[in-house]
Amino acid sequence: MIKMKEIKASNMNVEKFIDDKVRAIREAVGDGLAINALSGGVDSSVVTALGHRALGDRLKTYFIDNGIMREGEPAKVAAAFKKLGIKVEVLDASKAFFAALKGLTDPEEKREAITQTFYKNVFGKLVVKSKANYLLQGTILTDVDETVAGIKRQHNVFEQLGIDPQKAFGYKILEPLIELRKDGVRKVGAGLGLPAGMFDRIPFPGPALAARVIGEVTPAKIALVKKATAITEAALKNVKAFQYLAILHEDRVTGMRNNKRAFGNQIEIRCWNSIDARTARPTRLSFDVLEKIAAKITKDIPEVVSVTYNITSKPTSTIEAI
Ligand code: XMP
Repeated sequence: MIKMKEIKASNMNVEKFIDDKVRAIREAVGDGLAINALSGGVDSSVVTALGHRALGDRLKTYFIDNGIMREGEPAKVAAAFKKLGIKVEVLDASKAFFAALKGLTDPEEKREAITQTFYKNVFGKLVVKSKANYLLQGTILTDVDETVAGIKRQHNVFEQLGIDPQKAFGYKILEPLIELRKDGVRKVGAGLGLPAGMFDRIPFPGPALAARVIGEVTPAKIALVKKATAITEAALKNVKAFQYLAILHEDRVTGMRNNKRAFGNQIEIRCWNSIDARTARPTRLSFDVLEKIAAKITKDIPEVVSVTYNITSKPTSTIEAI
C-alpha cells in the first residue's frame, strides 16, 4: 500500500504547487492527449482548470450525465466552463447508470456499480476512442484515506487498493490533487483564477444523488431527491456550512394529507460544519430555517410527508448516507 504525502492547506505555497503540477502533467503526457471527466464538483473543476493550464486543447473534457446529478447541473457546468474558454462535451449516459443500479440496495454494491459503469462502460470506452493515454482525475487525500480504511469505497481510488488502472481499464491515471484535502483544493482553485462559485461550492460526492437514496436507486426516487436537494440548497446557500444535503429514506411513515391518512416518504436533511470532511458536526440551524425547509419540501413534493434533521456528528455518522 502506498503511503501518501500530505500537503496542508495552512502551509502550502499555492503558486509553486500549481507550477509543479503543470510541469508534471506536461512531462507525463508529452505530445500525447489526456482526457478528463468533469462532474462540476470542486475537485474535478479544479483539476480541469489545472489540466487545461498544462495542456490546453490537448486535454479533452467530458461531462458524463449519469442521470443522478443535481437539477440542471450538466448544462450549468458546461456553460460556466465555456465562459473560461474551456470546452466541455456533455454525454448523456443516464440509461446505462440506471440499468446498472437496478435491483441494488447494498451501499457498496451501488458505489461499485457506478464505478464500473463509469470507468468501464462509459468513460473507459470514450478514453479508448479518444486515443488519450492519460486520464486526469481529481482524487484527493480524504478519498484515499476513507477507501483504504474501508469506510467508504470512493469511486475514484484504484492504485492505493492495488488496482492497476492500466491493466483494469487500459489507461494511466494522473492525480495532481492527491496530496491535498478539500481546503487545499479550494486554494488551488483560487490560485488558478477560477470564479469563487466554482471552488467555493459545497462538496458533492462522486456517486452523486445515489449516495443520498437509501435502498434501490430508480429514476423516480432520483427525481424526488433532486427536488428536495434543490429546495435544501436554496434554503441553506447563505448559511456558512461545509456541506448540506437531503436524503431520501427507504422506510415510509404514516402522515396525513387533506384529512386523510397518507403513507409517505421521509426526507432527512443534513447540514455540516467541517474543515476537511474527516470529522464533522451538525450545524446549529435555526428552527425557523428548518421549518421553512420542511414546509416547502412537503408542499412541493406530494410523496413526502415527513422531514427530519440529523443531529449526529461524524463519527459515528458519515457526511453522506451511503
Ligand atoms: P463521507 O460521507 O464519507 O464523505 O463522510 C466525506 C466527503 O466526501 C464526499 N464523498 C465523496 N467524494 N467520491 C467523492 O469524490 C465519493 O465517492 C464520495 N463519497 C463521499 C462527501 O460528499 C463528503 O464531502
